[in-house]
Amino acid sequence: MSINLHGRSVLSLDDLSAEEIRFLLKLAADLKAAKQAGHEIPRLVRKNIALIFEKDSTRTRTGFEVAAYDQGAHVTYFGPSGSHIGHKESMKDTARVLGRMYDAIEYRGFAQHQAEMLATHAGVPVYNGLTDEAHPTQILADFMTMREFTHKHLSDMTVAFVGEGRDNVAQSLALGAAKVGMDMRIASPKELWPDQEFCNHVKGVAERSGGRFRLDEDMKGCVQDADFIYTDVWMSMGEDKSGWPERIRLLTPYRVTKDMMAASGNPHVKFMHCLPAFHDTDTEVGAYIAREFGIDCMEVTDEVFESGASIVFDQAENRMHTIKALLVATIGN
Ligand code: CP
Ligand code: NVA
Repeated sequence: MSINLHGRSVLSLDDLSAEEIRFLLKLAADLKAAKQAGHEIPRLVRKNIALIFEKDSTRTRTGFEVAAYDQGAHVTYFGPSGSHIGHKESMKDTARVLGRMYDAIEYRGFAQHQAEMLATHAGVPVYNGLTDEAHPTQILADFMTMREFTHKHLSDMTVAFVGEGRDNVAQSLALGAAKVGMDMRIASPKELWPDQEFCNHVKGVAERSGGRFRLDEDMKGCVQDADFIYTDVWMSMGEDKSGWPERIRLLTPYRVTKDMMAASGNPHVKFMHCLPAFHDTDTEVGAYIAREFGIDCMEVTDEVFESGASIVFDQAENRMHTIKALLVATIGN
């Protein structure tokens, strides 16, 4: 079957079929190899891409910028301030303005419906660069990285996410895993589980693909036989700092430690994280948490983060290659 993603928006992994995900991963691998060999062919010449970031970013912003530059495109960065977006101009009107000037728009913000509003009215592809609900481009990079570190097909892999089950990365990972037929587990305290509607949706997708989805409080059961143990921060961007004590109380048992890695029973298990990660106290937030709560890490110990099992910087690099594939596939010449 030939795949054509030209003109498509990606707001959630629901916008891509399993075949389209595999197509993007193959394209990303080809583009990565071409860049490494020094013979990348630019397919985005004369394209202009708007990058809207209502929240901070290191990887997603640089991923889009470097991918665009490598392929001959130009970008405009819109930060949380400095444009009229949201203050004096609605998303619907912004979409109709940017759609006249740009060939595609990346959007990182809060509500998913704002990304949908942009996509409905811009008339050009819109990519979700993270919302409170979803982080689809992260998962493309994660799948690419998983393939690089195992000899398995995606449908033969077992992935355990431990931490906040309703986290945007966890939810996108679960949906993506269900699409490609993985054995996906989320270990999370009940208080932080995704809502029932989302779980039913993921279960339905997994049933159709031959995958599995398990949501459980039992961390040990979930990590057993895992190829990858994945976690994310205990509090996402935009959440209220007053929630820290409760999150720390609920999530401390789900911290990724050497013992948890060993509990997988898989000597080759890998540690994954979308980053940024609180594995030490060398950040403003990390130092604040250490002062207030007397802990020197949150979701992962420094020992695991810095260990040979950790593939977090490979994931980070692959953000760029997979974003490039998405750009080339949707707006490439
Ligand atoms: N993983 C990720 O999206 O990183 P940034 O917040 O740095 O973009
Ligand atoms: N869950 C995190 C992911 C950051 C890439 C957040 O939304 O802040």
